Amino acid sequence: MEGALIARDKVGIQDFVLLDETTETAFLDNLKKRFEKDLIYTYIGTLVVSLNPYKELDIYNPLQMELYMGVTFFELPPHIYALADNAYHAMLAELNDHFILISGESGAGKTEASKKILQYYAFSCPSTARLNSVRDKMLMSNPVLEAFGNAKTLKNDNSSRFGKYMDIQFNSEGEAVGGHILNYLLEKSRVVHQNHGERNFHIFYQLVEGGDEALLRQLGLEKDCLYYNYLTQGECAIVSSITDKTDWKTVKNALKVIEVNESDTSDLFGVVASVLHLGNVEFDPDSRGYASLNNNTELRWVSTLLGVSAQTLQEGLTFRKIETQNDQVFSPFTIDHAVYVRDALAKAIYGRTFTWLVHQVNESLENKDETKMAVIGLLDIYGFEVFYVNSFEQFCINYCNEKLQQLFIQLTLKSEQEEYQAEDIEWESVQFFNNKIICDLVEERYRGIISILDEECLRPGDATDLTFLERLEEKMGNHPHFVTHRLADITTRKTLERGDFRLLHYAGEVTYCVVGFLDKNNDLLYRNIKDLMCQSKNAIVRECFSTMDPDSRRRPETVATQFKSSLLKLTESLLAKHAWYVRCLKSNESKKPGQLDEALVRHQVKYLGLMEHLRVRRAGFAYRRRYDVFLQRYKPLCPATWPHWIGLPMDGVEVLVQHLGYLPYEYKMGRTKIFIRHPRTLYATEDAFERCKHELATKLQAKYRGYRAKGEFRKRKEAATKIESCWRGAQARKEKERRVWAVKVIKKFINGYVNRRDAKTTENSEYLAFVRQSYLNRLKLKLPKTVLDKTSWLPAPSVCAEASEMLQKIHTRLLVRKYVRGLTQQKKAQLQMKVVTSAIFKGKKDSYPQSITKTFLDTRISEQDINMKYSVPVIKYDRKGFKPRPRQLILTQATAYLVEEAKIKQRVSYTSLKGISVSNLTDDIIVLHITCEDPKQKGDLVFQCDHLFEFLTKLSMVANKQNAFQVVKGSIKIEIQSGKQSAVDFATGQEPMVYKEKNGHLMVVSVDKSADTVTGVRSRHAKKPFAYFIRRRGDEETSEDRTDTGCIRYHHS
Ligand SMILES: Nc1ncnc2c1ncn2[C@@H]1O[C@H](COP(=O)(O)OP(=O)(O)OP(=O)(O)O)[C@@H](O)[C@H]1O
Ligand SMILES: [Mg+2]
Repeated sequence: MEGALIARDKVGIQDFVLLDETTETAFLDNLKKRFEKDLIYTYIGTLVVSLNPYKELDIYNPLQMELYMGVTFFELPPHIYALADNAYHAMLAELNDHFILISGESGAGKTEASKKILQYYAFSCPSTARLNSVRDKMLMSNPVLEAFGNAKTLKNDNSSRFGKYMDIQFNSEGEAVGGHILNYLLEKSRVVHQNHGERNFHIFYQLVEGGDEALLRQLGLEKDCLYYNYLTQGECAIVSSITDKTDWKTVKNALKVIEVNESDTSDLFGVVASVLHLGNVEFDPDSRGYASLNNNTELRWVSTLLGVSAQTLQEGLTFRKIETQNDQVFSPFTIDHAVYVRDALAKAIYGRTFTWLVHQVNESLENKDETKMAVIGLLDIYGFEVFYVNSFEQFCINYCNEKLQQLFIQLTLKSEQEEYQAEDIEWESVQFFNNKIICDLVEERYRGIISILDEECLRPGDATDLTFLERLEEKMGNHPHFVTHRLADITTRKTLERGDFRLLHYAGEVTYCVVGFLDKNNDLLYRNIKDLMCQSKNAIVRECFSTMDPDSRRRPETVATQFKSSLLKLTESLLAKHAWYVRCLKSNESKKPGQLDEALVRHQVKYLGLMEHLRVRRAGFAYRRRYDVFLQRYKPLCPATWPHWIGLPMDGVEVLVQHLGYLPYEYKMGRTKIFIRHPRTLYATEDAFERCKHELATKLQAKYRGYRAKGEFRKRKEAATKIESCWRGAQARKEKERRVWAVKVIKKFINGYVNRRDAKTTENSEYLAFVRQSYLNRLKLKLPKTVLDKTSWLPAPSVCAEASEMLQKIHTRLLVRKYVRGLTQQKKAQLQMKVVTSAIFKGKKDSYPQSITKTFLDTRISEQDINMKYSVPVIKYDRKGFKPRPRQLILTQATAYLVEEAKIKQRVSYTSLKGISVSNLTDDIIVLHITCEDPKQKGDLVFQCDHLFEFLTKLSMVANKQNAFQVVKGSIKIEIQSGKQSAVDFATGQEPMVYKEKNGHLMVVSVDKSADTVTGVRSRHAKKPFAYFIRRRGDEETSEDRTDTGCIRYHHS
């Protein structure tokens, strides 16, 4: 880390802790090197050393501020912003109070530093309209308080002549929500007297130089600073480095921002002007040499501006009112006394107005929400100063610096080392100068300078500044830090006047002139003047004098004691806060840019104890915390300590740091605290904590969300159960209703059923309607699909039997109609033929039923002559021997031809066809009876035709011989030749056969129709055409047994 730092900023070393040697020379060399390159800030650990450059540097712009926001201390080059930012984040993280102690001698840059810090907060803290108003008020309180409380001195053109401690109040979000200012002892003597080269408070010059004519006229002021006694004593009313005119505008604007209303503003300027007029009031000696004021214009202005009676004011300035039990006595003042009283009044008015102004700022800065969580205090107090003549004010100012140095020592050097001892941390003591001895010299009860001064102020008798000095010499005779002309050795005596005393302050020797100590400490104002001011028509003056002295009869505390108590209070309050330090160094006495007076800087380094601080820092530990506090903060970083550590916090911390991987030299375990050597170790831990915080937050968020979701789920589940139970209830009620209804319906149904045959009632008629409807519904689904389906008609209950019959008829007709309409021409012709067949054969010939399903073809012979109506293969039986002969029979329009291989064997004219006979059995034998008168005819034609019905139908239709058909039982007589008769006999048997009988008849045996279904064999035979059997016999004749029946013989014959 250190290497990186040096690389980033090659000039010198950014942190003195990293110096190779801790000598003063090395320290100064580094400071000088950096100063030459305008690097005015250097760290000692977390302490910022600032060296006044006396020139504007471009390191305070918004870009720079942004750069330092949220960055850890050592990440960027040293800057006061880094300190401000770290203090802010520490305050936010720990939510405790912090303060930044800015110290250094007059002109070292304390006020500037405090302003830079304030500006940084104004820039970096969160902003809203309300917060911006607080921010503006805070920023604008500065020009107002500086105008009234700062002045040009020999040391500094803008020297703070009052002490200021400002609390910036933050809420837990880190928003600056308010502020509060404490002011300390204003150097009031400056109002009436300024050393050579010095000025009065800026506001006087600003008003005279910047005020417009109307205002000046209203206030009775001349536009010339030289006109006023109070502005000219230093003989430098106009200084080029001070821009009074511009500052006047700023102040006027700032007064508006801090909500000082117009009337108060006017009164405020009235007070300022009245002081200037008072300074010009001069007294003339009257006849007795006492001070007198006759018709003084300046006095009139004072009385006008303060709204008091001029007469009473004049009395107050020239007489002292002594009240006895019964009377009032006026004692006149000498001119000197009158001047003293005048100045006292001027100081009182101005001093109290300044306090009023601070109250005013506080009121406008007050955080009305009470959301304050923590504060960062900014202490900018007048710096240590040594003038040619040093008076009571310098004594107080230097005492104040002494106290702050003591605080610094206590918080850093002393307490640090004591703490190491108390905590049993190995430690090599660093020697340092403890200025407690000087503090005691000034403030110790009964024995300190302030006590002695107070004693002198209060004791009866003629106490003077010189008697005070004598008392000091008496009491402090041997004190090593105190010396007077009388107590000094010869060489020192030469440097001291008789009325001087010298204190060896931590920052060097200061010789104080005792003149004025008693008066300034008493700060007395005569009662009549005070009373007069209480009646002032100027609201500010009236308020200041009446509220600030509630018990005017009691002697107020002396100025030094008040100051001492307020400092004690301040140190007490600061001790309760976490401290950050800015040590300001002055580079040269002549306020010149770029000049470094080495002796001056060396002196400051020495008395500010920077070397000691550096040594302690180098040897010490940057950070320490009580075990419980440390554990509480960082316990989330280690699983063993999170969420709770059971056991001693010290053991918990040990476990924690082991887990974090601290190296042994990086930390020490004290009795009650852990000590961490380098800030980087802590920063690393803090970074880890920051990261962990997010994780924890996510975890907590998840848990919380889970919890919420569970709650939500439970709620929904309950709601769902409720809805479900309501729904079920509703369903159950519905179901119940349904069942009740069902019971009624069933009951009605049963009653209806039982009484269905009784006289008509509502119940049975409903039942019957139901039966009808139900039948019709069922019927609808089960209607027969074909005309032939005569069996599947749904049997109807008796109540709708009649309707069912009608419906069946209608339905059949519908089917028939549908069927007929769907018929093709061929199919129609086919059916017409079947009708003819039916008319001829139905119920007459046994094989007729089988013929029904067979389609009648147009022809069975492929070669057709043009007139051919029909043709079919047949087995013709010879007339003589009944020898079977395969032939084709062709029907033409007028003739039937018996053909063998396209050779006409026989021609039967339809006219000569006198009859057609077939048996009633299942055979296929046809006999055509032919008129024998025709010589061309050969006699009756006997043949077998597989398509008997088809053929005969065709024949009947072609020849129009429907009436010529005969279905004969037993035997058909045939005429073989004219006059020669024979017969064909028909019988039934096991197997179909055709043979010539012994009697010369043709015997046709066919299978009994009734036997068709007796056995499977019969059935099979029955299905085969009759000719099949004949032909088989024929086929077998050569191989079959010749001694078989006549039938076979017949075939051979
Ligand atoms: N950081 C800085 N940059 C530029 N100039 C500075 C800086 N700090 C101080 N100065 C110059 O030094 C002058 C004195 O500074 P400042 O008023 O802050 O001193 P001080 O320590 O408050 O003195 P005193 O104790 O008298 O009030 C300023 O007016 C300014 O000109
Ligand atoms: Mg200052």
